[in-house]
Amino acid sequence: MAHEDDPLEHERATWQPSSGLAVEVRDPVQNPGLPPHRHRVTDEDPAAMKRAVRTVYTLFYLSVAASIWAIAAYMLFPIEDGSLLSVRQNNLFVGLGIALALLAIGIGAIHWSKAIMSDKEFIEPRHATRGRDTTRMAALHAFEDANEESGFGRRAMVRNSLIAALVASVLPGLTLFRGLAPQDVDPVEALSHTMWKKGMRLARDPEGVPIRASEVTLGSAFHVIPEALADLDHSEGYLEEKAKAIVLLMRLLPDQLVPGENKMEWTYDGIVAYSKVCTHVGCPVALYEQQTHHLLCPCHQSQFDVSRGAAVIFGPAARPLPQLPITVDDEGYLVAQSDFTEPVGPSFWERH
Ligand code: FES
Repeated sequence: MAHEDDPLEHERATWQPSSGLAVEVRDPVQNPGLPPHRHRVTDEDPAAMKRAVRTVYTLFYLSVAASIWAIAAYMLFPIEDGSLLSVRQNNLFVGLGIALALLAIGIGAIHWSKAIMSDKEFIEPRHATRGRDTTRMAALHAFEDANEESGFGRRAMVRNSLIAALVASVLPGLTLFRGLAPQDVDPVEALSHTMWKKGMRLARDPEGVPIRASEVTLGSAFHVIPEALADLDHSEGYLEEKAKAIVLLMRLLPDQLVPGENKMEWTYDGIVAYSKVCTHVGCPVALYEQQTHHLLCPCHQSQFDVSRGAAVIFGPAARPLPQLPITVDDEGYLVAQSDFTEPVGPSFWERH
């Protein structure tokens, strides 16, 4: 392009330094232009185009089949209590189905764009970004052109198979939600009761060693399980029982427990026990800040004030952590006075 035709080129070529000395500036990078267009096999051979179309919709239907397989595998290889092998088989076959479903959609879409969609090179001139009517019309035409050139509206077989594949690909994910609420268990009932009962000793997690009140020093926090939990083996629902009954034990000065906000009759000499299961969506509340007496749930940053009955002071949790009523037995060991008096865990379990 001649300098006179392009103001920018002209300006570059005639630029003068402040000394007034005219300098000829040569453009260091030449525009290489577009390489010669190479036609694809599918552009020149209608039979090849047909083969490509067949391949694409076969891949999309393969994706549908893989999604169905993932759902079937979820039922054919159920997770059985305490069986690690069943967990592995379930994850392997469901995962293979989901992976194949997504892979087939991806390969099909790439093949569609490379072999079937228009292969023309074109230059799109830049223009000002203004929201005028003409711009909107141009956008509309661009969509219409894309529809025409991709064949999305025309090639019903490819389009419908892609839509079917995309819809089917989300079904395995939805199926997995069923595992959150097993049919033979009422979740409200299951979370309303834990292993704690009158006289059950509080024990260290995971050793199962009972805790004396004298061992709980000021400012300390213990992760606690019911002593009887250690007697269960893993095939007897050990993890399920532990997940519900797990407790945090802390000692404050008795006068740091705000009267009226704590059930003082459920504490022992400043020692308090609260469920470790967050009342938001059930993560383990694990971080205790002994200066402020705050418990933090790391999942979504809910904070609970232990000095005020584990009331929520920040975050999405909707209610305080349930308190476990405790006292000591004749030998000085900490024991439960009863089970929790309300369901542990997320608040929505309480809602029928
Ligand atoms: S689970 Fe604890 S804040 Fe969300």
